Amino acid sequence: MALSDPAPGAISALQPHEIAAANALVCEAGWNQVDADWRIFLALGQVYAMRDGGGHVVATAATLSHGQKFAWISMVLVRGAFRRQGLATLLLRRCIDDLTARGCVPILDATPAGREVYRALGFEDVWGYHRLALQAAAQARIAPRPHGVEIRPIDETAWRDICDYDAAAFGARRDALLAGLRGRLPGAEYCAVAGDRIVGFLLGRDGRVASQLGPLIADNDEIAIALLQRALAAIPAPIFIDLADTRSAVLGYLSAAGFAPQRPLTRMQLGSGDRFDDPLRTYAVAGPEFG
Ligand SMILES: CC(C)(COP(=O)(O)OP(=O)(O)OC[C@H]1O[C@@H](n2cnc3c(N)ncnc32)[C@H](O)[C@@H]1OP(=O)(O)O)[C@@H](O)C(=O)NCCC(=O)NCCS
Repeated sequence: MALSDPAPGAISALQPHEIAAANALVCEAGWNQVDADWRIFLALGQVYAMRDGGGHVVATAATLSHGQKFAWISMVLVRGAFRRQGLATLLLRRCIDDLTARGCVPILDATPAGREVYRALGFEDVWGYHRLALQAAAQARIAPRPHGVEIRPIDETAWRDICDYDAAAFGARRDALLAGLRGRLPGAEYCAVAGDRIVGFLLGRDGRVASQLGPLIADNDEIAIALLQRALAAIPAPIFIDLADTRSAVLGYLSAAGFAPQRPLTRMQLGSGDRFDDPLRTYAVAGPEFG
């Protein structure tokens, strides 16, 4: 099928009333986002769309800036009948132009199909992770409590310190994004505290096909596992988590609980360059759409 728009290939902002149409692309791709995720992009970032001759959305891409240095490109979706006509490439070029004009390094988390599009545009692999899925009730796994660390539900008192801790590990402040996730999956919201210091936290959110855990940022494996243990006791399957490939101890814990790898994802940056986040504290990302 070809675009028969009066202005073929025109790219313009997704309008709030088109969220349902954008969600149809999410469903077709089997992705997990819901309206609340699109609303985060509309509020904090930019969503571009391309439409067919009838004005129906057939392709999307979104950008989300994280501070001044780098920004995410995501929600790159093209309706099946319109693929291999260069739509994703056109949308990516538009997003890249926007971000580089502001001096931001474009970053994205690629599916295997998306990675082919992005490599052709100059993106290079930085690190990898896997989406792990739990489809049935978690097998209870009791892990030893980390010494001197308390796992607590996140409350208002701790919130500012959690945002500071996240910024140091992620490489930029993203308070508004974290606030947009908070409250969507209360059973996943925990922080780890040692004395008066935050040493880890976990958030989550609802999804179209599964609850999603992440970000999971922690000082060490024991703390990351203790945070997960609390969440898994509170949240029913299905559950997704996007776990960095280097995290073998946490992978072992999650595998024993019943999680299985679903698909690989690759974090890519335009051109080469060091990663902005802290590999020592990054366990699970917020999600490929958010970083
Ligand atoms: C991945 C996706 C966005 C590509 O959209 P598209 O509009 O078909 O991509 P383009 O036409 O711009 O492709 C440009 C080039 O990328 C490569 N490419 C695109 N899709 C590919 C695929 N499925 N497998 C291998 N290479 C692919 C090809 O080299 C293609 O050039 P060619 O058609 O001349 O051979 C689309 O298949 C899609 O929506 N998939 C489901 C959601 C998804 O995975 N999104 C990516 C998230 S990171």
